[in-house]
Amino acid sequence: MKSISLDITKAAQFLGAGAVEALEPQVQAAQEALENGTCAGNDFLGWLHLPSSVTPAFLDEVQACADTLRRQCDVVVVAGIGGSYLGARAVIEALGNSFAWLIQDKKNPVIVFAGNNIGEDYLAELTDYLKDKRFGVINISKSGTTTETALTFRLLKKQCEAQRGKAEAKDVIVAVTDARKGAARAAADKEGYKTFIIPDNVGGRFSVLTPVGLLPIACAGFDIKALVQGAADMEQATGVDVPFARNLAAQYAAVRQGLYTQAGKKIEIIANFQPKLHFIAEWWKQLYGESEGKEHKGIFPAACDFTTDLHSMGQWIQDGERSIFETVISVETPERELDFPADEENLDGLNFLAGKRVDDVNKMAELGTRLAHVDGGVPNIRISVPRLNEYYIGQLIYFFEKACGISGLVEKVNPFNQPGVEAYKKNMFALLDKPGYEADSKAIKERLANEQ
Ligand code: PA5
Repeated sequence: MKSISLDITKAAQFLGAGAVEALEPQVQAAQEALENGTCAGNDFLGWLHLPSSVTPAFLDEVQACADTLRRQCDVVVVAGIGGSYLGARAVIEALGNSFAWLIQDKKNPVIVFAGNNIGEDYLAELTDYLKDKRFGVINISKSGTTTETALTFRLLKKQCEAQRGKAEAKDVIVAVTDARKGAARAAADKEGYKTFIIPDNVGGRFSVLTPVGLLPIACAGFDIKALVQGAADMEQATGVDVPFARNLAAQYAAVRQGLYTQAGKKIEIIANFQPKLHFIAEWWKQLYGESEGKEHKGIFPAACDFTTDLHSMGQWIQDGERSIFETVISVETPERELDFPADEENLDGLNFLAGKRVDDVNKMAELGTRLAHVDGGVPNIRISVPRLNEYYIGQLIYFFEKACGISGLVEKVNPFNQPGVEAYKKNMFALLDKPGYEADSKAIKERLANEQ
């Protein structure tokens, strides 16, 4: 079986000779701290050996639940935010048809994502769309108290019960949540929904290989066993005993930390040349941003879809402040084949491309971009993915997770907490007069009055 691969040569050239290799002791120490459970945030290391510990019986249980939803629903709404939705969306969009929601093939339910915003138009339009649909809901929230998701779930639950009756609704609502705590758990227990547990020791952004990601992915019709197998193989390939020079996660973590601390590269742009990878980048942004952006440190994770964004962000990348580096996810072979036709009149002057595959053009755009950006002072890391299938996406997910854990520890932060996320929530609850926030509410209102 092939594997994803990594090329750091066009990034390492921006560092002194031997600089990446010199980071090996720090990277190895981080690997060992992860492995031995002695690092900061060691109560959230459940993701580390998750792929190799998922049992076939558990995957069968997830698949059986997905099959029930697939039989009984034309639309499945996945309600969740942040780590409770980005992984599922990333995999489903990477593997699915680009026009999936327009295809009425009846083979697969339409998967819709909600609970990730508080847009009134979005929710009103969603409830309108669902009015004549046989729909079900996967309610995903570890805490069970996240406002965006809880608010959406209340709307969807009422609508589902009104349209299908309470008894039938019970069979098409599934909760993925904490084993004991939170409103989502209380509602699931009271209503008798099928539930899956998010393990205590797996944080949201590392949870795609738990039912948080696996259930929606299986609902969409993708092979979760192959996904987990890919991740398990990458778990082995990036293990603590795999030599630094051959360990993709160690190499990626080392070169990005080298660029950050030695070359002043403060921003990493993850780029792709396949629009299906847009949400892989969104998932990656959360994984790295929430793990590393702490104590006034951390590489800022940004994303571009190429060639699309070469026509909007290309100028900045080529010629703006030299504080960036680029990590390109390159797909070696597309799933579909489309040859470019010749044209007698050649009015568009494109006959020089006749007979080539569209991907040949894309690959030259990719190579041309790489050369131009490196010439312009942008270090380039390249991750090659043989094909967009479940197995290689599983590898990619685990590779990024492992490298993230190592990189955060080399940066000397706790990569597994997210204390900064609470600040906006506290203000919002105070402004909305949520019970329990009376003192904050008084203080914030006084502050706003003084600022006027
Ligand atoms: O990574 C994280 O911890 C966050 O992105 C959470 O997943 C997100 O805030 C959703 O939280 P919850 O699953 O508790 O609703």
